[in-house]
Amino acid sequence: MSAENNQPDWDAIAEKFDLWLPHIAPVGASLIQALRAQAGDHIIDLASGTGEPALTLARQFNGAVTIVGVDAAEGMVRAAHNKVIQEKLSGIEFKKMPAETLTFGDNTFDKALCRFGVMLFEDPLKGLQEMRRVLKPGGRFALAVWSTPETMPTLCWSYKVFKDKVPEEQHPPIAKVTSMGGPDVLDDHLYRAGFTNFQVTKHIFNYDFKSFGDYWDTVEASDILKQQYDALDTKERESIRDEVGRFAKDFINNGRLIIPHEYLMATGTK
Ligand SMILES: C[S@@+](CC[C@H](N)C(=O)[O-])C[C@H]1O[C@@H](n2cnc3c(N)ncnc32)[C@H](O)[C@@H]1O
Repeated sequence: MSAENNQPDWDAIAEKFDLWLPHIAPVGASLIQALRAQAGDHIIDLASGTGEPALTLARQFNGAVTIVGVDAAEGMVRAAHNKVIQEKLSGIEFKKMPAETLTFGDNTFDKALCRFGVMLFEDPLKGLQEMRRVLKPGGRFALAVWSTPETMPTLCWSYKVFKDKVPEEQHPPIAKVTSMGGPDVLDDHLYRAGFTNFQVTKHIFNYDFKSFGDYWDTVEASDILKQQYDALDTKERESIRDEVGRFAKDFINNGRLIIPHEYLMATGTK
């Protein structure tokens, strides 16, 4: 795998990814609001991971909408499915399916959602073309992608501290994660996918941790940087924590670590 597309092993870290869900919940709430779902809607959540924002939407509508979440990683799909069973939710299911090759017919869904998935697709344009194909005419979508590297402090910290310590093929995937964040990149992809009626807007939300230690525990426990850590010895790992701690100092406020992150939201209709 190239450094450009050096994503975490989503299959392996599935349950642990949930540690990040409270921190990105504001983005899900904004997407759900922008989607304007209504009772009776048939909705697809692309790259649905461990189930969000699809599960929140299902809880809100309590069986009055039908939702299908699709994700390329089996482990993520299983984790999402387990939540459906555990909570006895109705009208929602999850399937293993790459966004680039959806098996649904044309004009199937009233609404489409995608939080922090498109930029990670192997082929983002194909994924957006597929999203458009399965939307009904007039169907609405709401999606979020990360913005530019300088607006993502935590990713920049990881990139800076690892880049000279691990081989290039293990560098944190900053280019891929921010690949749709530059000026007009998302607009251009949406346009090329066939959408003509859409808006792209910038938004900022905060990662809010009790302390730097709390943040660091989440990074370690979630295994989001597992392959990078695994390439280091114990002493190097400790030095990494200290280095990131120095970057984080600027974001400490009354002991809490509050880190703004920027994302782009696209909303529109087919
Ligand atoms: C950052 S996670 C976001 C998960 C979820 N949407 C959320 O916001 O909690 C990115 C997800 O994209 C999935 N993914 C990456 N490439 C994909 C593709 N080509 N098709 C479908 N899912 C993909 C990964 O498996 C992972 O679950």
